[in-house]
Amino acid sequence: VEVNSKVSSIIVYGTCYGTTKRYADELARRTGIKAVSYDQVQSLAEYDVIIHLGGLYAGGVWGLTHTVKLMQDEGKQKLIIGTVGLADPTNSENVENIRKSIRRQVPSGLYEQAQIFHLRGGIDYGKLNLKHRAMMSLLYAKVKRTPVEEQSDEVKAMIATYNQVVDFVDFASLDEIVAVIA
Ligand SMILES: Cc1cc2nc3c(=O)[nH]c(=O)nc-3n(C[C@H](O)[C@H](O)[C@H](O)COP(=O)(O)O)c2cc1C
Repeated sequence: VEVNSKVSSIIVYGTCYGTTKRYADELARRTGIKAVSYDQVQSLAEYDVIIHLGGLYAGGVWGLTHTVKLMQDEGKQKLIIGTVGLADPTNSENVENIRKSIRRQVPSGLYEQAQIFHLRGGIDYGKLNLKHRAMMSLLYAKVKRTPVEEQSDEVKAMIATYNQVVDFVDFASLDEIVAVIA
């Protein structure tokens, strides 16, 4: 008889416009693990497994710094990271860029043992706040000056979708995360 052997897990999410929350709520529904916005989380001490889902903003994963700060140093807790971004995660160059930025946000010991997944989000330019609209407008102006043959796939996609509404959310991409939790 196993007593006290139950692994306790939590889904922490960081979202600005709700895309990541859609993934977090679906993952919660499929696993029975509760999903909480990172800014509602004061302590993670009681959890063995922390699943952080966060939107990508200029490389950084929304809320991840907060989650990492609340984790213990001893490496007893398991960290699973799911990024939600506009860039196509089947493109290896995009994935390399995302991982580089996660490495800047997560201490190396934790990074080495973390499991990382990439989900695709969406954007509705009409809903962006002033700061984000300005950031995207500056980025667009900059990348537009890049000769087409020098543009990465990520940049090409950004130019193609600028000022539009796009939604690449695909719940089937959660299967991989469900598989490592179960
Ligand atoms: C200012 C800004 C910066 C962004 N930077 C990135 C990025 O570096 N990489 C990426 O893949 N997507 C980027 N995106 C797209 C978001 O990650 C995407 O819209 C995501 O679905 C947002 O998730 P949320 O709705 O949960 O906040 C950016 C969006 C904005 C507005």
